[in-house]
Amino acid sequence: MGHILSTPGRLTGDVVACRRWLAGACCVEYARHLCWASYENVDTSTEDYHMPFELPPLPYAKDALQPHISAETLDFHYGRHHQTYVTNLNNLTQGKPEASKTLEELIRTAPEGGLFNNAAQVWNHTFYWNSMKPNGGGEPSGDVAAAINKGWSNFQAFKDAFSAAAAGQFGSGWAWLVKDAAGNISIEATANAGCPLRAGKTPLMTCDVWEHAYYIDYRNARPQYIAAWWNLVNWEFVAQNLRG
Ligand SMILES: [Fe+2]
Repeated sequence: MGHILSTPGRLTGDVVACRRWLAGACCVEYARHLCWASYENVDTSTEDYHMPFELPPLPYAKDALQPHISAETLDFHYGRHHQTYVTNLNNLTQGKPEASKTLEELIRTAPEGGLFNNAAQVWNHTFYWNSMKPNGGGEPSGDVAAAINKGWSNFQAFKDAFSAAAAGQFGSGWAWLVKDAAGNISIEATANAGCPLRAGKTPLMTCDVWEHAYYIDYRNARPQYIAAWWNLVNWEFVAQNLRG
C-alpha cells in the first residue's frame, strides 16, 4: 500500500498519492506515483461546496508541444500548478463577494497578497497556454509584424529584446508583449504573479519564466527554454489580442 506523500490542505492544494497507488496498483505514468493526469491527487475535500473558478481545458494535448515542452512538464505545470491556483482561489473566495467577480476584476482590484496572486496566476497561465500552439513559431505577418517593425528595427531585434527580458527577470515571473491605451506595444517583465492587466494594459502574449515551466525539461537553463519557446508562439492569438 502507498502512503500520503504530503499533507493535503485546502489552501495549499498539496499533493496526495493517486488512488490507484493507494489501492496498491502500479501507476504506470510516474515512478514517483504523482499521477496528475487523473487529477485524483488533488485534494477532493473542496468538492462539497460551490467552486466558481474552474481550470480551463488545455487548448491542445499534453504531448502536443513536444519536443520543446514535454508532456511531463504539462502534467505538472497545468495539472498541478495551474490547478492549485484555481483551488486556492476558490478557497480564498468561498462565501465572499469576491466569489462572484471575474478574474479580470480581481486582478485589477484585489489588494496585494494571496487573493491577487492566485487570481492572476489562474489568468496568466490560461493566457500562457493560449500564447503557444503546436507547430507555432516563425515570424508574424500582417498587423503584428507591422506593430513589431514599428517598435523595433526588425523581428530579430524584437526577439532578442523579449528573450533578454524573459531571461533577465530575477526569480519567478513572466515576460509579456503588451499594448497600452494609445495602441503602442512594448515588452515587460513582471515578478511572481504580476499581470499587465493590473496597470490597465492589454497583454498580447506571455512566456512563463517560473522554474516550474522549464525545470523538468531544461533544468536551470532558462535561456534554452526561452529559445525553444519561440518555436511554439501562437501568432494568431497575438493578432487577435492586438485587434481586441
Ligand atoms: Fe507557471
